[in-house]
Amino acid sequence: MDPSQTDGAEKHAANAPPPEGAPASEPPSDLAAASITPVPTDERPVLKTLVLLGSARTSSAFWGGSSRLATRVGNFVQQALEARSTARHEITVWDPVELELPMLERPHFYYEPGTAPPKLDELARVVEAADCYVVVSCEYNHSIPPALSNMLDYFGQSRYAYKPSAICTYSDGPWGGMGAAVQLRSMLGELGCIPIQNMLRIATVSKVLDEDGGMVPGNGAGDWARRVDTFCAQLEWWAMAAKNQRAAAGRP
Ligand SMILES: Cc1cc2nc3c(=O)[nH]c(=O)nc-3n(C[C@H](O)[C@H](O)[C@H](O)COP(=O)(O)O)c2cc1C
Repeated sequence: MDPSQTDGAEKHAANAPPPEGAPASEPPSDLAAASITPVPTDERPVLKTLVLLGSARTSSAFWGGSSRLATRVGNFVQQALEARSTARHEITVWDPVELELPMLERPHFYYEPGTAPPKLDELARVVEAADCYVVVSCEYNHSIPPALSNMLDYFGQSRYAYKPSAICTYSDGPWGGMGAAVQLRSMLGELGCIPIQNMLRIATVSKVLDEDGGMVPGNGAGDWARRVDTFCAQLEWWAMAAKNQRAAAGRP
């Protein structure tokens, strides 16, 4: 079909009267609203989702190059989670540049309860409260960047365990951070937050995502929407399953 015809058909549909039985589009009057039991506007299950960025980069190379790519990928993932109709993600983002955790000398679990620095206690509570984790990372030498493993290592596996994680890696080269992704599976598994099967790997990321995390036109937005949907759907399935089971049976 000629695209202009499709366009015309959609416009026509948008202007057509609602089908019989469809709810009126006008807002209810005050009187009507007062006599109707309010229906919750958002019945999506809530998931506390901790997004961890892997890059602590604050400068570019002398030969130029982009500003930190982690920012756009983090925005992309955050926007995808916020747009989900199947779960309401209460998102916390951990950015190593903002967290400024020093190279690990004393992890949180080395402190007797009540004696850790308040900042570490607060971060530990966030790890504990999370229902799932999303790691957004570049790769360094086909491996996990140190800022990310440093951040993860501060907290004991008991806080991460019995919840799922999801891995999103990126690079401006052709492999999309595959080396780090493979190693992250192992590390996250050891922390007890088992990675879901699906991974997002975004190659040539500066051509796919703009600086705000939006899709660059002409780079397969539909394909990416499907990939992101599978990624989020798997994460939510496991996160809800684990949340329900923790509530029913606690943890071993
Ligand atoms: C120490 C170091 C090692 C790197 N190793 C890889 C690599 O193995 N594979 C790759 O695709 N890019 C590699 N890069 C390039 C990074 O992917 C690139 O700098 C990327 O922009 C980092 O993500 P960021 O912009 O979020 O900091 C490396 C960069 C550095 C500084």
